[in-house]
Amino acid sequence: MSKTPLSFTIFLSLSLFFFPSITASSITDRYLYGGCTQQKYTSNSPYESNLNSMLTSLVNSATYLSYNNFTMVGGSQQDVIYGLYQCRGDLSMPDCATCVARAVTKAGDMCRGSCGGAVQLDGCYVKYDNATFLGVEDKVVVLKQCGPSVGYNPEGMGSRDAVLGGLAGSGGPFREGGSGVVRGVAQCMGDLSYGECQDCLSEAITKLKSDCGTADYGDMFLGKCYARYSIGGAHQASKAHGKSGKGGERTFAMVIGILAGVAILIIFLAFLSKICGRQGK
Ligand SMILES: *[C@@H]1O[C@H](CO)[C@@H](O)[C@H](O)[C@H]1NC(C)=O
Ligand SMILES: *[C@@H]1O[C@H](CO)[C@@H](O)[C@H](O)[C@H]1NC(C)=O
Repeated sequence: MSKTPLSFTIFLSLSLFFFPSITASSITDRYLYGGCTQQKYTSNSPYESNLNSMLTSLVNSATYLSYNNFTMVGGSQQDVIYGLYQCRGDLSMPDCATCVARAVTKAGDMCRGSCGGAVQLDGCYVKYDNATFLGVEDKVVVLKQCGPSVGYNPEGMGSRDAVLGGLAGSGGPFREGGSGVVRGVAQCMGDLSYGECQDCLSEAITKLKSDCGTADYGDMFLGKCYARYSIGGAHQASKAHGKSGKGGERTFAMVIGILAGVAILIIFLAFLSKICGRQGK
């Protein structure tokens, strides 16, 4: 039996196992928007420790649920902090966890010292604040993006409108649809009721159609829901909002690379010790 084919097989299967997840996460972790409250908290205060437990809870919970909310009540009444996260409904749990960890890190960096913060990445959303917002519908436009116009094309626009109509008409917090080269996706935050989600999405979809006209892609993010569409993969092609931490992505890929390396080494050593053990007998 020769050693090389086996270690090579192990290496290949590990590579195949790890590399798709790098690609998937770097797409879902793309930064879309974020913001912080004006109000600041005092450092080393009970509020700061509640905030830290909030961020930890969000990250931990995202390893097994795609939506959750938390209320941290340590200290006095004015130290209460509320928070939630929502992963896009089609993300796997590992991708959800990675995304929320990224969003929390981003919010923590961007909103250092602020009482509240919110970050939307492609695959997930996180928000925390000392004013309660849980279970409150919010239809304020927070991000609107329209791609370049493809000109009026009755067939393309007809499919676009049909896909958006399908999103508006189906139920549940996560909706996706497609027709030909048109893809659409819609998501409500998990704290909205069925009726609030319906109401929020129908507004997002109406605005998307009226504001983006004949654009080849459109994104309409309201406070508690969003709707997006693209024609012919226009989102993937455009890197208009790709200024999120490229360094972070590289670090992540490196960590995965190192983990894969260590795994290969362990398997290789186990393999060697097995051979040596056999030879020793
Ligand atoms: C949030 O915290 C800030 C700063 O401590 C405070 O001024 C504000 O009143 C708080 N808001 C609520 C709703 O407690
Ligand atoms: C917050 O989470 C709790 C469970 O931890 C749940 O019972 C409650 O309905 C949630 N609230 C909202 C507004 O989603």
